[in-house]
This record gives sequence, C-alpha cells and structure tokens, in this order.
Amino acid sequence: MTSRATVTKAVIPAAGLGTRFLPATKAMPKEMLPVVDKPAIQYVVEEAVNSGMSDILMITGRNKRSLEDHFDRVPFIEKTLEDKGDLERLAMVRAASELGEIHYLRQGDPKGLGHAVLRAKLHVGDEPFAVLLGDDLIDARDELLKQMVEVQAKTGGSVIALIEVEPGQISSYGCADISVIEGEDYVRVNKLVEKPSVDEAPSNLAVIGRYVLHPAVFGVLEETGPGRGGEIQLTDALQTLAAQEEGEGAGVYGVVFRGRRYDTGDKLSYLKAVVTLASEREDLGPDLREWLKDFTGTLES
Ligand code: UTP
Repeated sequence: MTSRATVTKAVIPAAGLGTRFLPATKAMPKEMLPVVDKPAIQYVVEEAVNSGMSDILMITGRNKRSLEDHFDRVPFIEKTLEDKGDLERLAMVRAASELGEIHYLRQGDPKGLGHAVLRAKLHVGDEPFAVLLGDDLIDARDELLKQMVEVQAKTGGSVIALIEVEPGQISSYGCADISVIEGEDYVRVNKLVEKPSVDEAPSNLAVIGRYVLHPAVFGVLEETGPGRGGEIQLTDALQTLAAQEEGEGAGVYGVVFRGRRYDTGDKLSYLKAVVTLASEREDLGPDLREWLKDFTGTLES
C-alpha cells in the first residue's frame, strides 16, 4: 500500500520591510494588512493547516508583536462577546488562535528571503518542508500545496509553484525555463531567471510564493552569497539545486497552478484582491456587487 505523502512543517517568512506598502508598513508587517476582515497571514496559515501542516514557523522581524498577538487568545474580547451572546464573532476571534502550533523566530537583519529560510534550518531538521509567502493568497477552494507535496515525494527534489502570465507581465516575476516530462503533470525546472525582459524570458511561467523544499536547500543557502539587491536570494539557491543532476535533494520541479490566486504584494493588486474576495462573500458580496455596478457607471472611460 502506498501512503499519502506528508509534509508537516511550514515556514512563513514575514520579516521583509514591505517597502511597496509604506507608510502602512511603517509599524506593522504587510502580512497583517486586512484582506476583507482577516489579515493576509491568517489565510496563509489556514492554507498550510488545511494542507496537512501542523507545525508552523514564522520568521519575523521587529514587527513580531502584532503577528503573535493575532494568533493568541484574547480573554478580554472573548469574554465580552460571550457575555453579549455574540457567538458568531466569538467563533471568528477564536479561529485564529486554534489553528495549530505556531512558532516564531526572529530573522535578525532582513538579509533576504534566502536568509529568512535559512534561519529555519534547526527547526526544520532533515525533512522536506513548505515555504509560504504572505504576498500570494491561494483560494481555499483550490488545492496547490498538497499537489506540490506529492511531487516532492515522487521526485525527491524541491518543488516550486508556477503560473502562466501574459508575456508583458513576466518582467515583474521570477521566470522558469522548463522541460515537459512526458506523462507527468509537473515540469522539470532547468533554470530560473529573475525579472527578465519580455525578449529574454525563457517562458511565460512565473514563480509564485509557494515552495516545498528538500532540506538540501539549507546547505546550498549557507554557501550562497548576496545576489540581487545585496540580499541572499532563495532563487539563487534553487538555481544551484536545479543545475544538479544527481545527489540528495538534486533537481527542481514545477507545478503549474491554474486555480484562483490573489496577489497582495503591491497596492493595486491588493485592492483588486480585496474587492474580488469581498464580492464573492455571501455576507458582503450582494451589496458590494450592486454598489460596484453603480460606482463603475460613474467612472469616465
Ligand atoms: P519581498 O521581496 O516581497 O520583500 O519579500 P518585502 O520586504 O516583503 O516587500 P517589498 O518588496 O519591500 O515591498 C518576499 C517575502 O520574503 C520575506 C517577506 O516578508 C516576504 O514574505 N522576507 C524578505 C523576509 O522574511 N526577510 C527578508 O529579509 C526579505
């Protein structure tokens, strides 16, 4: 009998400076920005938990406090809601503190995503693990991480998530040069190119913020010097693994995601994500959609 592949540890780097969202991110992490009525980070933790990951490690910075508070109990608010009999809100408040085991580790200097992931080495140990970035929200109705976990178990390498973008958009993303593997629903990643121009892009496949990594990535990160922007880049370490033909943890594979994804990393995408998600909600959607129709009618073309 074949057992279903499992990965129990998820790492969520949340120590970036969030400069694209200043001044909102001056005193709070961008992961705490509300997407309708929950901070972005809660969607991400829920996705990890729903994908079977019970042990979450958040890599935080100076801004650790609000993240920790959000996933903690708040007896005072809970008591007030209980006394009022407001069970619906009580359940919403409690949900965030009942998501599972969440650990926090400070990054120290924000020396890049690769450096943040390397900080997880001791906690993760010698097993495959997931990395989820708070900029990308994956719709709860679509499965991505579970599929990536299966591919990791099958290939023994590391797995990244890719989406197809319009050629003109590729220069905002990391881009993957891939080979199709006959009969498989995942691809082999030959090379990663960070933010290429349209002419230089090897494909229209863009890297998004979900990874299932072999622990061999830690050794590679330790040897990876500062790259673009003077930061230690996860992409550079993945590039090294992609170039390896053999050895433990060699090879990088890609799962092309065709489900619903919401980008919350910059102001315009964030606004679109909030409106899209809110307009699909049962409680807010009908009124919001009605208003949106009126509102768009007032806009000049
Ligand atoms: P980004 O490249 O989006 O950087 O990081 P950022 O600082 O969050 O945002 P901008 O570009 O300045 O607006 C990608 C992910 O890596 C984390 C971030 O928190 C984000 O989830 N990160 C980045 C760290 O944890 N540490 C770092 O040193 C850098």
